[in-house]
Amino acid sequence: MARFLAFDVYGTLIDTAGVTDGLRTLVGDNAPIFAKQWREKQLEYSFRRALMQDYVDFSVCTAQSLLYTCKRFNVALSGAEQERLLAFYRALPAYPDVAPGLALLASLPVHLFAFSNGQPDDLEVLLQSAGIRHYFEGVVSLYDVRTYKPNPAAYAYFHRAARTGGSETWLISSNPFDIIGAQATGMRAVWLQRDPTAIFDPWDVEPTVTATSLADIVRLFGNPIAP
Ligand code: LAC
Repeated sequence: MARFLAFDVYGTLIDTAGVTDGLRTLVGDNAPIFAKQWREKQLEYSFRRALMQDYVDFSVCTAQSLLYTCKRFNVALSGAEQERLLAFYRALPAYPDVAPGLALLASLPVHLFAFSNGQPDDLEVLLQSAGIRHYFEGVVSLYDVRTYKPNPAAYAYFHRAARTGGSETWLISSNPFDIIGAQATGMRAVWLQRDPTAIFDPWDVEPTVTATSLADIVRLFGNPIAP
């Protein structure tokens, strides 16, 4: 039975800390913590929007969390500076292990999909500019169901959109909330823990598998009896 692999995008394939260099001229040494706060607030806004059933496009969560972070760090950005940062966000880089890992996975009997909160056009541009769009059979965006991960409806939508038809389906994500959300709906999941200091939420659930790079994931799915 062919396996379907649903790759989370932001934070898993694409490095959201890639904005840090662009931030340095604006916020100096605070750039790394500014980038972290911006990302955390973006996710918080997506969770709250899903819970409130008050959907806005993910790019709105990104723009509003940037405004919040500017206030938090007492930084006044002009409209043009904000637009430049948001443009960086639309062209963030892939992690270095991603393209070689996807190239190897593409030679295995697996169906590769990108699966993200992001808006469809943004995802196309992002994956194209990172040079990895062609590895995916499809890009599944939650824009179509107007909710965000980890709403169970998000994972149910992946099965419909990718037409998994009951095949074995795995989520690959570096975001623990995503792993826990997917597994709660019966999917299997690989937690991609590139950073050894990353913490998996202590919710009495473990990832089906933990990997440290895409090369680990290639080994996992290249082994016919695993897991
Ligand atoms: C995504 C979020 C989790 O790409 O960043 O769906």
